[in-house]
Amino acid sequence: MWILALSLFQSFANVFSEDLHSSLYFVNASLQEVVFASTTGTLVPCPAAGIPPVTLRWYLATGEEIYDVPGIRHVHPNGTLQIFPFPPSSFSTLIHDNTYYCTAENPSGKIRSQDVHIKAVLREPYTVRVEDQKTMRGNVAVFKCIIPSSVEAYITVVSWEKDTVSLVSGRLCISRVQDAMLTF
Ligand SMILES: *[C@@H]1O[C@H](CO)[C@@H](O)[C@H](O)[C@H]1NC(C)=O
Ligand SMILES: *[C@@H]1O[C@H](CO)[C@@H](O)[C@H](O)[C@H]1NC(C)=O
Repeated sequence: MWILALSLFQSFANVFSEDLHSSLYFVNASLQEVVFASTTGTLVPCPAAGIPPVTLRWYLATGEEIYDVPGIRHVHPNGTLQIFPFPPSSFSTLIHDNTYYCTAENPSGKIRSQDVHIKAVLREPYTVRVEDQKTMRGNVAVFKCIIPSSVEAYITVVSWEKDTVSLVSGRLCISRVQDAMLTF
């Protein structure tokens, strides 16, 4: 009986130690989106890891393995993907607004992280404008606040003004946040 118990214990111990010595796991499953400023760049650690040491590789969501672009994008030996700061004129959708994933591989196998959307926000001056609208007297005109698409997702329209006077409800209704409707 003792011998049986001992050998059972040993086989459990073996399985356990095998698992400890060889494994692949996800470090941060909640990492799905990285938004960074073009002026700072970003460092994204591979969200997958393992024991014994793993080979980490980054890919585009299309399955293409990514290559180093000197001064623009680099994968460090520790598996951290770095996107360097860049001027707005060097913005490239392929590099600065794309979906990536990382794989971790060792003798026990290979795992693939979930997709991580890495997106740069350009820190550049921008202007918003309103286009002229024509309407018949007594009808409604809709004015749109026109925001450059590069910053649109990060801009909220906080007020509309006419001759520097803020427009409030009554003559103005906000149909969507970005639009103002006026009756003449
Ligand atoms: C996991 O990713 C989230 C989202 O980017 C981040 O806020 C958090 O700090 C990360 N946690 C770890 C342990 O790296
Ligand atoms: C990986 O290496 C880079 C460059 O040396 C470093 O900046 C980064 O903090 C490292 N990341 C981790 C997760 O160790």
